[in-house]
Amino acid sequence: MVNKKEITRRRTFAIVSHPDAGKTTLTEKLLLYGGAIQVAGAVKSNKIKKTATSDWMEIERQRGISVATSVMGFEYNNTKINILDTPGHQDFAEDTFRTLTAVDSAIVVIDAAKGVEPQTEKLVKVCRMRKTPMMVFINKLDREGKDAFELLDEIEQKLQLKVTPLSWPIGMGKGFKGVYNIYYKNLHLFTPGKQTVEAGIRFNNIEDPELETYLGANTGALREEMELVKGVYPQFSKEKYLSGEISPVFFGSALNNFGVKELLDVFIEIAPSPQGRQSNVRFVNPDEGNFTGFVFKIHANMDPNHRDRIAFVRVVSGVFKRNTNYLHVRQNRKLKFASPTAFMAQKKSIVDAAYPGDIVGLHDTGNFKIGDTLTEGEILQFKGIPSFSPELFRYVVNADPLRSKQLAKGIDQLMDEGVAQLFTGKQSGRKIIGTVGALQFEVIQYRLEHEYNAKCRYEPITLFKTAWFVSDNKEQLEDFRARKRSQIALDKEGREVFLADSPFSLQMAQEKYPDLRFYFTSEF
Ligand code: G4P
Repeated sequence: MVNKKEITRRRTFAIVSHPDAGKTTLTEKLLLYGGAIQVAGAVKSNKIKKTATSDWMEIERQRGISVATSVMGFEYNNTKINILDTPGHQDFAEDTFRTLTAVDSAIVVIDAAKGVEPQTEKLVKVCRMRKTPMMVFINKLDREGKDAFELLDEIEQKLQLKVTPLSWPIGMGKGFKGVYNIYYKNLHLFTPGKQTVEAGIRFNNIEDPELETYLGANTGALREEMELVKGVYPQFSKEKYLSGEISPVFFGSALNNFGVKELLDVFIEIAPSPQGRQSNVRFVNPDEGNFTGFVFKIHANMDPNHRDRIAFVRVVSGVFKRNTNYLHVRQNRKLKFASPTAFMAQKKSIVDAAYPGDIVGLHDTGNFKIGDTLTEGEILQFKGIPSFSPELFRYVVNADPLRSKQLAKGIDQLMDEGVAQLFTGKQSGRKIIGTVGALQFEVIQYRLEHEYNAKCRYEPITLFKTAWFVSDNKEQLEDFRARKRSQIALDKEGREVFLADSPFSLQMAQEKYPDLRFYFTSEF
């Protein structure tokens, strides 16, 4: 058994949002509380800058720098907090989906003026699918925004989350007075431009006449709204939050550091400690004695002279130890790591032991791919690292016949990193690269040239979607394979996918072959 104390005092989570809602600002404020950074702006400078949206080289460079911020660990009130960073750029959405498999909970940041935005919808959908407990932070209350009830309605409808506010805003924009914390039953007054938060003023009863001395004309409205809140929203229940059925909502302003400490305090009190994970053979509990873990992210070193990479491993059970032999299950071989990295306070340092919920960075020269499992000898593979059907496709063609080996190796390794997906036409043998964002095509071309000394060019292909397909009906399966011969490819694992060139052809296939099941994520 692992030291239970080490497990229960850990919180591993991600902050997700649509770009610009305030994820970076909130992360930074949280780190300030943990003393992990001394000055505001430290995380910000690592953020992929907005101006760089069309300059992918700049993005990659910044991604390189941001290795240190991929995982931000810090101690706060005897709790070890691991924040897993997720790239805001939508072309890297798949990175974010995978990172979400390594967390136990999430904080969703929403801009009070913009409400629920598309990227938030996508990310929350992934969390919902995984039943990840979510808290919502409605940000930028210092600006004019939507009405609080309207925002909660929008969250319920667009994000399909059942919400219960644990704090409530008093006014907004220029008239923003502060928030009443329903969970701790105290009032926090907002002073524009003031960064520090004083302890709230306790009001066990919202009817307390003294409230008026602080809120004046706003008192009546707050009382009425609190009455409504009580009538409309379910009472907070930790169990329901932990099972992903209900999401507590907080209001504040990350920029002004307002409402952040309360969010953090409630978070460490109620958020889940590291949870176990389902493997292909059994459920693995965090307090088991033997170490297990899985790779959820691979980060390439941006220095072309060192083609090494960092594989990020989430510890699921047991204790990960330095210089110890572990089984790389897929390759069926033992590996030992002399310099595993822990991420504390934005700095990397060599770690001797890591506990469930922790993330360790392992130096990799090409052994790992996303989803790989490490154990002390048990043969099992963790589930839940799906690939999604890509959205953009191109044929990839060798542009330097003398270096076809390098090209094959380069493509292979980049696909293992999860940069894109490769499909090989069953009949034509042609290679198709599928991505979720246009940037990746340029990234791949550049990296092949600079890291593998290989050249490729792209040719257009008309493709709407790839769908993995299976069936128990052998006849239908064979007929489908025969008739669609030119539209079937193999993914990197050798599984068959249907290359649908239009929504219509996909629909036709589904109608004509009712016994075939088509899947748009690789895990089914
Ligand atoms: P992101 O990581 O989700 O993309 O968002 P980020 O934190 O970078 O915030 C996006 C913009 O919103 C930033 O302004 C940031 O200062 C601002 N912001 C964050 N929280 C608040 C808040 O509580 N109130 C207000 N009024 N603004 C907030 P920017 O001008 O784009 O960047 P910067 O030049 O200020 O760094």
